[in-house]
Amino acid sequence: MAFRRIILGQVGRVGERSMSSWWRNVQPAAKDPILGVTEAFLADPSPDKVNVGVGAYRDDNGKPVVLECVREAERRIAGNLSMEYLPMGGSAKMVEETLRLAYGENSDLIKDKRIAAIQSLSGTGACRIFAEFQRRFCPDSQIYIPVPTWANHHNIWRDAHVPQRTFHYYHPESRGLDFASMMDDIKSAPNGSFFLLHACAHNPTGVDPSEEQWREISYQFKVKGHFPFFDMAYQGFASGDPERDAKSIRIFLEDGHLIGCAQSYAKNMGLYGQRVGCLSVVCEDEKQAVAVKSQLQQLARPMYSNPPTHGALIVSTVLGDPNLKKLWLKEVKGMADRIIGARIALRQNLEKLGSSLSWKHITNQIGMFCYSGLTPEQVDRLTNEFHIYMTRNGRISMAGVTTGNVGYLANAIHEVSKSA
Ligand code: LMR
Repeated sequence: MAFRRIILGQVGRVGERSMSSWWRNVQPAAKDPILGVTEAFLADPSPDKVNVGVGAYRDDNGKPVVLECVREAERRIAGNLSMEYLPMGGSAKMVEETLRLAYGENSDLIKDKRIAAIQSLSGTGACRIFAEFQRRFCPDSQIYIPVPTWANHHNIWRDAHVPQRTFHYYHPESRGLDFASMMDDIKSAPNGSFFLLHACAHNPTGVDPSEEQWREISYQFKVKGHFPFFDMAYQGFASGDPERDAKSIRIFLEDGHLIGCAQSYAKNMGLYGQRVGCLSVVCEDEKQAVAVKSQLQQLARPMYSNPPTHGALIVSTVLGDPNLKKLWLKEVKGMADRIIGARIALRQNLEKLGSSLSWKHITNQIGMFCYSGLTPEQVDRLTNEFHIYMTRNGRISMAGVTTGNVGYLANAIHEVSKSA
């Protein structure tokens, strides 16, 4: 007995020692540059606080919106108590409707079953599965990422262990596209490189290539044999029309590129927390598409097994009914138009205050964001002195600008930028 107590005592001591050391070296992670802003905003008790950080649509009262088409879809699917698993690739119906949005209603690629596609955990999940796929099947490849880009793109390809390179995109002086440098980078990248492109409403800059420029980019990709991977998180937010916003992709398809594409319903259907989207990869033929899809599913299986059902059911209900789809298109346009109005109001307010700086880019840029040109120090002042929350790269989520706060926001921006 005494012997047993000694042994257990020793085990206990050794056990305690090793248990307490498991996580001793874990330091707190750096705050996420976008979602960390929301955390700080929520913790601020000031009644004046304004959140123009995260890209999430708000109505003119600053309130989150559930679209009418989504409410109607919810009514129709209420009582559907199937809690069964979806297949690893998700809802086939949702995926089919989603492909039509990107590739076109009458796409031959869809008819010929040349697209390998799976439901994804929104756009982030689509990018991540693609990055893993790239790593597994093109292990020596790299990814070229625009400067700047959505901060999470870097995390995604980093965690998939794909080396990253960058290409020029934004021109800080003109606050527009640095097309010449972008083309130079495309030309000088090794043949057959992977490029990440934002299909529309570039995040964070709100600067997109023109149609003509997309054609030149597509041509150069053809010459170099590059692979275009499109992240299309904001389809509908650039022009108010999802069909028009797919133009970049359609140009590449006309030119016969085999593309990859990440789609998301977070923004354009307001399904942020449902995490519903789609990853697609265009293949040479149906046989290849079957193989690629099976591998995409294989990647999803050990990560999350299969995707959640509810958001997919909402999407397939909305897009599968012509009347609900029409309502959705109207509501997307309504959101895009409100943001355009907010851009005009912010610029006019700044000009009325007598700012000597040019604020034309607020209305020239498109989509959900304005890349204001404010420095990190100016953003810190906005936060510390005025309780205005935005990412430190000066990105303003225009969706958070309302009739009620635009004057306050303009005044604060003027205060921190006037001595610059
Ligand atoms: C954003 O850029 O604010 C959104 O895409 C939200 C996110 O996940 O970062």
